[in-house]
Amino acid sequence: MISPNTIQQILSRIDILDVVGGFVKLKRRGANYLGLCPFHNEKSPSFTVSPAKEIYKCFGCGKSGNTISFIMEHEKYSYVDALKWLANKYGIEIEETFATNEQREQQQTADSLYIINSFAQQFFSNTLFDTEEGQDIGLSYLKERGFREEIIRKFQIGYSPEQRDAFTREALAKQFNKDLLIKTGLVTNRNDQLMDNYRGRVIFPVHNHSGKVLGFGARILKTNDKAPKYINTPENEIYVKSKILYGSWFARQAIDKADECLLVEGYTDVVSLHQAGIENVVASGGTSLTQDQLRLIRKYSNNLTIVYDGDAAGIKAALRGLDMALEEGLNVKLVLIPDKEDPDSYVNKVGANNFREFIQKNKKDFVLFQLEVALRDAAGDSVKKADVVNQVAETISKINKAEDFTKQQDYIRQCSEILKIDEAGLHALVNKFIRDKIATQERALPAIEAKQIEENSSKAEATNYDDATFNLLFKDELQEREFARVLLEHGNKPGNEGQPIADYIFNEIIDESLFDNPEIIKLITVYKKAFYEHDSAKTEKSFFIYHPDTSLSTLAVSLLNFPYEESEHWKKEFNQSTGYQKKLFEKSYEDFMRTITIEQDKSLLNYLKIGEDKTHEEIESAVNYFKLRKIKRMLLENQVDMEKPHTPAEFETLHKTHEHLKSLEREIVQKAGTVIIK
Ligand code: UTP
Ligand code: MN
Repeated sequence: MISPNTIQQILSRIDILDVVGGFVKLKRRGANYLGLCPFHNEKSPSFTVSPAKEIYKCFGCGKSGNTISFIMEHEKYSYVDALKWLANKYGIEIEETFATNEQREQQQTADSLYIINSFAQQFFSNTLFDTEEGQDIGLSYLKERGFREEIIRKFQIGYSPEQRDAFTREALAKQFNKDLLIKTGLVTNRNDQLMDNYRGRVIFPVHNHSGKVLGFGARILKTNDKAPKYINTPENEIYVKSKILYGSWFARQAIDKADECLLVEGYTDVVSLHQAGIENVVASGGTSLTQDQLRLIRKYSNNLTIVYDGDAAGIKAALRGLDMALEEGLNVKLVLIPDKEDPDSYVNKVGANNFREFIQKNKKDFVLFQLEVALRDAAGDSVKKADVVNQVAETISKINKAEDFTKQQDYIRQCSEILKIDEAGLHALVNKFIRDKIATQERALPAIEAKQIEENSSKAEATNYDDATFNLLFKDELQEREFARVLLEHGNKPGNEGQPIADYIFNEIIDESLFDNPEIIKLITVYKKAFYEHDSAKTEKSFFIYHPDTSLSTLAVSLLNFPYEESEHWKKEFNQSTGYQKKLFEKSYEDFMRTITIEQDKSLLNYLKIGEDKTHEEIESAVNYFKLRKIKRMLLENQVDMEKPHTPAEFETLHKTHEHLKSLEREIVQKAGTVIIK
């Protein structure tokens, strides 16, 4: 884990213009900066960066966020990787901490597993070269397949003898811990007896990017055996299959030099191609590519060439990774090996030079290949063809990186030609998919709100509220957001007695439990806690914008966005409230009276002498809204109560309460009319 101190240092150094400006050409426009959005396709700039707020928003596609989320989104990094990227950029040394004992133990286990694996690798290598069984069975098998000794040594290939516990005995003699031995997968426990797991197999060690052995692939030698062809290391602290590319340790430099990474399926494909002098090659291990694997590839090169068997299964397997690879910003090409061969057997058959030539000549663009396959399937069926158009538009929309726009344009042009459709139409369709995707992503937060609206509506139903009431309840969502925004924006500023505005708000007005939106309540609660613990750094806007709880940071970013979409609704709300008032009954509860703080009515404008800016107006608006809302709630509950049978005395109280609430409401609505509601 990156230490809080390091995170703090990174956050304090972040300059959004510097970071975003590294990827997007920005031009100054007033207080903000404008550029072409890197997340969708546009000709005139609508991507806006606010250096003051440290956020960005695109008015074309709606994407918004902070500096860290920009890096996460643009570079497809995790939160931690984005922090690491920024630390590297600003030359900040990363201090790691172990938050828990558990993490410390995990690290210790990982270290031990590496040590055992290294020992095992040497044991298997020695067995292969220095024992009779190893030479007779293991080495002769490998040589028969055409592997030369130097390549066997380079890849540290070994052999595990037939004997039931040859390795286990050596390992126990070395005092290795039994549980850890089992964890490596090298040893199994059968009827309380420890024994070797890879007996009579050729062993391919799997190395990490720095050459340490993560685990093994153990290939069976006997044919016609019911046992699996390969036994692989089980998932453990260091062997995480989804993050492993076999051969990456040996291929790194060659990939860098060629600026291309070949991807094959198996261990033997990698080894054979290396032997043929084709070293920029890694294997996925026979399953479809994961996002982590694609990210690893992208660290070395943007050009990925998938070299798979040409049978239907091979094509299918290759196509599965396509969209994800495009999303990762990779240029993907495909080569299908003919005649039921795989890269290993094919290079052995035709030789290194012919193999290279074959790859160069038969590289197909992945997107166009997919389109061809789909069109062949659709063959003249216009409904199916429409599906193909949609499919290809969606695929192209996945290429969403700034530097790839020309590529996207090229695809749109080429695909519209192949499909014989209008280029502009395909262009529009691609943009639609981009917008849809962003809308879906950004819906994560509003989804919670939608749920709330639903709950409110059933609440309204249960209590027989009318439509106007229902509207009132759910429109409050926007107002709550505005309230939280004002708190974030101005809470830290001093009022006229030097007392921060937040103090005024919390003391006099706010009871956050009256809010509906759980995210807003969370934000206010977190703010309030930090505020009263005098942890002023944690009431800063930027603290919330970069809050590690992404639900809070997303909310903060969306609240502090450039346009105040809330404002118009708010204005309407005030207007509507008078219509709603007329519908109310004429009675109320005395209890509620006590909760009304509005009578104190210190004039806010007196309280907050804040010069020329609009702070006081915004706060007054927000506070007035809150008061109004509180009163409306009370009026509503009063109304519901009045529908029940009451004694004349009770009725009288309800009635008086109602009158009082109504006069307060009028007062606020009037006052609201005198302040500028943004
Ligand atoms: P292949 O069956 O193509 O094996 O599986 P291969 O690598 O070409 O091996 P040879 O040439 O027949 O000796 C491709 C990859 O799928 C994984 C392995 O990573 C293998 O290299 N695999 C396959 C398994 O993990 N388990 C299996 O039982 C089979
Ligand atoms: Mn093979």
